[in-house]
Amino acid sequence: MTVKYNEKHRLQYHFSPEEKWMNDPNGMVYFNDEYHLFYQYHPHGTTWGPMHWGHAVSCDLIHWEELPIALYPDEHGVIFSGSAVVDWNNSSGFFDEGPGLVAIYTSTDNYPDSDRSRQRQSLAYSNDNGRTWVTYEGNPVLSDVNITDYRDPKVFWHSETNKWVMVLATGQSVTIYTSKNLKDWEFASEFGNTAGSHDGVWECPDLFKLPVDGDENNPKWVMLLSIGDNPQLKEGSRTQYFIGDFDGTTFINDNSDETVLWLDHGRDNYAGVSWSDVQDGRRIYIGWMSNWRYANQVPTEGWRSSMTLPRELSLTSSEEGVRIAQKPVVEIDSIRKGMEVYKDLAIEENNFSCNISDLTEVSVEFEKQNATSFGLFIENSEGEKTVVTYDVEREMLLVDRTNSGDNSFSESFAAVQEAPLRMKNSRLKLQIFIDTSSIEVFANEGEVAVTSLIFPSKVSEHLTLFSNEGNTNATQLKITDLASIWNK
Ligand code: FRU
Repeated sequence: MTVKYNEKHRLQYHFSPEEKWMNDPNGMVYFNDEYHLFYQYHPHGTTWGPMHWGHAVSCDLIHWEELPIALYPDEHGVIFSGSAVVDWNNSSGFFDEGPGLVAIYTSTDNYPDSDRSRQRQSLAYSNDNGRTWVTYEGNPVLSDVNITDYRDPKVFWHSETNKWVMVLATGQSVTIYTSKNLKDWEFASEFGNTAGSHDGVWECPDLFKLPVDGDENNPKWVMLLSIGDNPQLKEGSRTQYFIGDFDGTTFINDNSDETVLWLDHGRDNYAGVSWSDVQDGRRIYIGWMSNWRYANQVPTEGWRSSMTLPRELSLTSSEEGVRIAQKPVVEIDSIRKGMEVYKDLAIEENNFSCNISDLTEVSVEFEKQNATSFGLFIENSEGEKTVVTYDVEREMLLVDRTNSGDNSFSESFAAVQEAPLRMKNSRLKLQIFIDTSSIEVFANEGEVAVTSLIFPSKVSEHLTLFSNEGNTNATQLKITDLASIWNK
């Protein structure tokens, strides 16, 4: 196979399979010095189709090696989303010696003699570092004939109760099950029927504990939850989260039912979950960088979709309560090349511009003066630009892709993405990652993220800082060239 990765719009430092269609990240687990990334994969087309689990591995979460397909459709159906764990103590009995990997996923087929779809949970195991998988002969291990949407099991070990816990998306709720051996599952509780956003079907839950403000004595539990597309929605599919407590059985939401917390304010971060068994205590997350509204139509050829940058999640307390912050993993440093630094730029209208390469990280700190809005845009020689603006009065960060390039493939694509955001001591910090067809904006140490695809006809070449109706200081601007991860 010749590795190409140089097609139009191909992301250069985000994971995408060499060819064909990909959606959700699945089964992420760290084992024997490797990060595994499985994903919903259709090897026979560039649109969604019968699902397999594709597979890639990495030592640093940035450089990936694609491996052969891990799971193929079988007599129980196609392979929908799910998770993987290290079974350290062989609780499943699948392994003769030492720990091994167990994948827990949804088998989707039709009810016998009907075309109504049925979703059941199945297991597969590997004792060769995920290179080959055996499906369990007792599959499926969990089914419920009364629920149509019954999928995306995320399993983790709950050491306080000595049990495996599964969170499963069940229509408009998350159902929690527990098990001693990964094979026999018991109902524990149901969460969410009245909480959060119910704009679409609930999918891809995750549940994990994190310290608040780094204090291990003050942990909180986070539930991630993706919400499918619905024609009435402006934004398409999105991911919300809940903060609360979990005792091994029941999740209690800290916030009112009406509170909706969005993980990302951009349109293109969906179905993300976290890695299991990471040994250094980090909670590392990756999302699918697309949106069901137009995922099947984005203008790429031969391949379709990539992942977001992997991000480390943390919890910070604020006046409003505990919130998720996210930052690209520190391993991103491995692709940083030359850097240029500017200090104390007095910005008035569009008075600062510089050249950038197609793969760039921009770090900037703005200090408010008397402008009504300020920000930056990236632009190519065709005049196509993507604009990041802070609106001082509305306290809103805006990422405008209405003039960023090809919008023609979907009426929903052209958009100004908005995120509520307060300045800190009159300052705003932005860290922005620009790849061939994406922009990821992290504001104020990752308090807000805006992840957005863009499809410029040519790569961006210029960066301009601007300030409207007054001045703004850019106390520091750092522009870093990034390297491609593909050996082209
Ligand atoms: C989320 C999702 C999951 C499902 C998978 C199918 O994007 O709809 O709920 O398991 O994709 O590919």
